[in-house]
Amino acid sequence: MRKPIIAGNWKMNNTASEGVALVKAIAPLVKNASCDVVVCVPAIDIPAVSEALKGTNIGLGAENVHYAEKGAFTGEISAAMLKEYGVKYVIIGHSERRQYFGETDETVNKRTLTAIAAGLTPIVCIGESLEERETGKTEEVLAKQIHEGLKNIDDITKIVIAYEPVWAIGTGKTATAEQANETIGFIRKTIGEMFCPKCAEALRIQYGGSMNAGNCKELMAMPEIDGGLIGGASLKAPDFAAIVNFDK
Ligand code: 13P
Repeated sequence: MRKPIIAGNWKMNNTASEGVALVKAIAPLVKNASCDVVVCVPAIDIPAVSEALKGTNIGLGAENVHYAEKGAFTGEISAAMLKEYGVKYVIIGHSERRQYFGETDETVNKRTLTAIAAGLTPIVCIGESLEERETGKTEEVLAKQIHEGLKNIDDITKIVIAYEPVWAIGTGKTATAEQANETIGFIRKTIGEMFCPKCAEALRIQYGGSMNAGNCKELMAMPEIDGGLIGGASLKAPDFAAIVNFDK
């Protein structure tokens, strides 16, 4: 059985003090969660949020990591810098990074290998655009993102994949539970062929894209969906907690 994992992605929201207030509000609401609970926060919030999360069941995540160990990469953050503050997870290859910051499958792959080597759990994001879905290219696009973004990984079960159809992010337009389930099934099959079927069975694959308190139960009831990567709804404690407690 795969343990579900619900992660918030704050994106560029919450100053450090706002972030501390938010996790303090979330913590008591999710303390009996049966899934893994994670908040991925802006890098500058990490020290304060890390402190505020002590003694809670909420894991800390970052929103990116650089692939080099250290050096002349102005503005970037290394795995060692994250680890010093108890960061356990890191989002890699979010569609906003791919769209606005030139992230490619190649840089996704480099960042993912570095994160794994450092003992961080990467949450690797893949997903198709609206045009790609409407022109029947979803599987082709996902297969490329998987083959190029995840190559040379020794143990694929050390990562989490987030399937985030770009057209569902921040739009209020969620994939139907059936659509998400079917596409995640395809991702699992592709991983099974690339690595091994048993590893694919053990791998956790989240759905992301306008997941909220109202639709989480239906999505989480699907056999292929092992959790959620939550944007907007992770910014309000009761909404995020309702998703974490989808099984209560
Ligand atoms: P929304 O939940 O705001 O659609 O964002 C999803 C997302 O991009 C999570 O990484």
